[in-house]
Formats: sequence, C-alpha cells, structure tokens
Amino acid sequence: MKGIILAGGKGTRLYPMTKAVSKQLLPIYDKPLVYYPLSVLMLAGIRDILLISTPSDTPSYERLLGNGEEIGISISYKVQETPKGLADALILGEEFIGKDNVCLILGDNVFYGQNLTAVLNRAAERKKGATVFGYPVKDARVFGVIEVSKDLKAVSIEEKPRNPKSNLAVPGLYFYDSRAPEIAKSVRPSERGELEITSVNKTYLEMGELYVELLGRGMAWLDTGTPEGMLKAAEYVEAVQSRQGFYISCIEEIAWRRGFISTERLAEIGERLKMTDYGRYLLTLARGD
Ligand code: DAU
Repeated sequence: MKGIILAGGKGTRLYPMTKAVSKQLLPIYDKPLVYYPLSVLMLAGIRDILLISTPSDTPSYERLLGNGEEIGISISYKVQETPKGLADALILGEEFIGKDNVCLILGDNVFYGQNLTAVLNRAAERKKGATVFGYPVKDARVFGVIEVSKDLKAVSIEEKPRNPKSNLAVPGLYFYDSRAPEIAKSVRPSERGELEITSVNKTYLEMGELYVELLGRGMAWLDTGTPEGMLKAAEYVEAVQSRQGFYISCIEEIAWRRGFISTERLAEIGERLKMTDYGRYLLTLARGD
C-alpha cells in the first residue's frame, strides 16, 4: 500500500500566518502539522509516501523530511501547480500508485486515539473498493457528510450539504484500490470549481464498493482550519504529552516501534536533538527507561 499526503493549498483562511509559510508546516505545539498525518500513514504500516505541495512550498517539505531514509521510509515529492481539488492528488499520484492500493491523507488532518492503529489496519486490509471514515460532529455542514444504514452500509455521501442527512463528517483520510486515479480523472469540477474527493467516493458508492468505518468517542479528529482550532489542537497535544509522558505523532518513535529503524538509529537522532525535550524523549525510548 502506498501513501499520499496532500499538503498544498493557499491557506488563505489562516492569513497572515500562512502568507509566507505553508499551513501544514506551522507548528501544532512542538512539531510541524504535517508530522501528524505522516504518523497516521506510518501507523497504517505504509512506508512508501508521496507528498504533494505547491511549487513554492515543496522545497520546504524536502528540507524538513528529506527522502525519509533517516526514519526508514521513502518520501518522494510532486508539485501541484494550482489547487484544483483533493481528487487531483490521485491524478498527480497515478504513476506513483501504479497497481497498488493507496491511502490519501490531507496534510492538515490530526487524528489521535486508542484504536487508531486497529481501525487503520482494517481499512488497509481491504483489497478492493474504497474506505472512508465517519466522525460525529455538531455541525456537519462544512464537511463531506456520509449517511449510513443501521448495518453501517454507506447510503449517501455529499460535499458540504446545506441540510446534512447525518451528523457524520468524513475526515480527510481515504483508502482506495488502484482504480482511484482513473475514477478521479472522470470527475467533473464542482460548483466551487474543484475536483472533489467526495465525487470520487460517490462513484465508489454507486459501484457498491464504498465502505465506512466509524470513528467513535475515544478518537480525536482535531480541527486545524482556524487560529482557534490550531491553538486548541496544540493544547490537546500538550495536555496528553505532559500528563502521560507519551508523545503524539512522534515519527521517529513510530518508525522505531514498527521496526523501520533500529534502537541505535533512534539514539543517534535523539542525540542530535538532545537540547530539546523532543530529543531527550527519543533518548529515553532508546535507553528503555
Ligand atoms: O478535512 C476534511 C474535509 O476536507 C472533508 O470533510 C471534505 O469532504 C473535503 O472536501 C475537505 O474539505 P475542505 O473544504 O476542508 O478542503 P480544503 O479545500 O480546505 O482542503 C483541505 C486541505 O488540502 C487544505 O490544507 C489545503 C489542501 N489542498 C486543497 C486543495 C483544494 C491542496 O493541497 N490542494 C488542493 O487542490
């Protein structure tokens, strides 16, 4: 399974914060926002990742993450010239995806919760069709919205409906089989002029191959769309980390726990960062304290 992180866009809703810096490079407490979706892909066991961003921001991501080798994964990059829509990521990623299945995650989506790895593995194991997630929210009108039957089958999916048919928002995390780029190419731009990922999901629904996993109460899907959302997300991460002592979305830790890198490599990285709490955390893990 391949992974794609879409980390472009203009970030206009966060101006002036994002005037000179890509939104997904801004910090959520102690790490760049993009670490959070990257860690989700790694938790799903995905090691071959394509990051898509704007012409001006892609070099910054390359500086931040390099080719991924240091943490035992492979990261390649692709430029999206203009923000044509989320489904465009599947078109840009066509060659990268090849005959594999793919997980697409938006670079500004933060997930954290106890069963996340199990939920991800269930979705990743499905060989055919598409899997989306349903997350209960108070106001679903600003999201993709999925309606499900009693036995959790997808009934309808709509992008930002005025009158949502359910309270289940669809987060920016999608699993597809290798037909997704073809399907994305057949999508027509929406009223807002974008190739909507919801249109791709709708096509799978019409083929009877859209699966839904519900994310329950114990799962946090945090909003990073506004300055207030970013502050609250940062506070959440700080609260969990300082209370439990476990880091959220520490990519080096995940790489080590999943066996992508050795304990020696983890210690090496920790040593280099030992002037920070982050580095000292890695050293603690490596020592097994
Ligand atoms: O976050 C989940 C929601 O994301 C879903 O519920 C919706 O169904 C989906 O359409 C999307 O809605 P948004 O309106 O929040 O998407 P937005 O246009 O804000 O783009 C999401 C991120 O993707 C944002 O950080 C910018 C980036 N992006 C967006 C577009 C359209 C790109 O990198 N390239 C693009 O072409």
